[in-house]
Amino acid sequence: MGRIFIISNRVAIPDPKRGVQAGGLEVALRNTLTNHSSVWLGWSGEIKAQDACQTRTITRGTMTYIVSDLSEEDYKEYYSGFANQVLWPILHYRLDLAEFTRRDLSGYLRVNEHFADEITKVLEPGDIVWVHDYHLIPLARALRARGHHNRIGFFLHIPIPPPEILTAMPNHDRLLPALCDYDLVGFQTQGDCANFARYLASEIGIPARIPGAARSTTGIGKMRIGVFPVGIETEEFARMATRAQESNFLKRVLKSVPGEIVIGVDRLDYSKGLAQRLDAYQYFLATNPEWRGKVTYLQITPKSRSNIPEYAEMQTQIDTKAGHINSSFGDVSWSPVRYTNQPYSRNALAGLYRAARVGLVTPLRDGMNLVAKEYVAAQDPDNPGVLILSRFAGAAAELDAALIVNPYDPESVGSAIARALALPREERVARQRALFAILLGNDINSWGQRFLKALTRKTGESEARNAALKSPAATRAH
Ligand code: G6P
Repeated sequence: MGRIFIISNRVAIPDPKRGVQAGGLEVALRNTLTNHSSVWLGWSGEIKAQDACQTRTITRGTMTYIVSDLSEEDYKEYYSGFANQVLWPILHYRLDLAEFTRRDLSGYLRVNEHFADEITKVLEPGDIVWVHDYHLIPLARALRARGHHNRIGFFLHIPIPPPEILTAMPNHDRLLPALCDYDLVGFQTQGDCANFARYLASEIGIPARIPGAARSTTGIGKMRIGVFPVGIETEEFARMATRAQESNFLKRVLKSVPGEIVIGVDRLDYSKGLAQRLDAYQYFLATNPEWRGKVTYLQITPKSRSNIPEYAEMQTQIDTKAGHINSSFGDVSWSPVRYTNQPYSRNALAGLYRAARVGLVTPLRDGMNLVAKEYVAAQDPDNPGVLILSRFAGAAAELDAALIVNPYDPESVGSAIARALALPREERVARQRALFAILLGNDINSWGQRFLKALTRKTGESEARNAALKSPAATRAH
């Protein structure tokens, strides 16, 4: 096998002075790539004047990083515009928040063409290309147009809705069929995979074939689609959480919190259901007065994409709700909610997860949600906390031993908080055991390896297996 190329919008380059500033994907791929000569290419994270934009190459061990600056126009049209004000809301089922312009779409295509040019300068036959997430849907098409026959795979980290929603996106027929230029397209859940298969059937006429098992692939047209639920570094995270118990940071926090901790950790994003979650906690306090003064909800919410109006508005909305709960239920010695926009290190979070009796993960829609998995991995197996998990997070497909809730129903989520706090130790231990076993069986290493193995598998083998798979009848969307 040649080199592995990872292409993603964000690229986390280790900084020898500050240590690794780990982003989600960096953590996910670190072990897969450590022993393999690899190239990671994407945005430098810098926005510059058009004529000052550069592409830099940085080498660290077996990794080569190639990062390009974005011009202000690129940033506005490709990143803030098409990726985050069209694709992000629509793929999270929020047609109401999408703001489509043709100018943003052409900026999005332009930046993808630019990345394809940069890849072309260094790509050799035999190299494997793995493209990540919604920023880069048309990249394979741009690479094929430049004559590359390499294996190219795509993994969508976020959800994909049914064709009834996808087809409302202007120009969807210019963009989504470009996914057919990949050899392999991976999704987080069977539901996502089925939605895409139905789109292909209704819009392109490719008979829908959906992988029959929770972690498998199937041939569809000239490519394969498959389900690859992303995992975490389960054992390492569990060890980190155990060690974090000794940290001064955690001791200080625990000393200042009366009673039990309920924890939520999310980027400030409308897909996370923070407003509904605060309503649920308020309902819990209103209906369970015996818990007042004995529980504290820590909500850690680093700001995100603040230049986009919906995100800026959310900041005020969530500040107001958290303040309202504190003024209505708190007193001078107890604040029911501690809400912060401060980011925390993975170490600090691991310690807080372990200390929290309840992990509250209630997105309205989420591709996977690794906080849910990290919360489980961090628990003390002899006296674990309880995960409350939205049925609309991809993680719910695997973590069904959590308390599964509907995040749109604050009363039921509020009742789940009361139930979680009262759950007897035996039941907590049994649920934790089941959840932890799932995380061990599908950790981050097996995710990366499974995807790369499926991507590099010889076509003959996959054809033979596909023929053996029973093909469900094509579904047409009306
Ligand atoms: C999600 C997406 C990632 C993205 C991250 C942070 O997890 O799947 O691709 O990098 O959010 O968002 P940002 O816009 O700050 O990169």
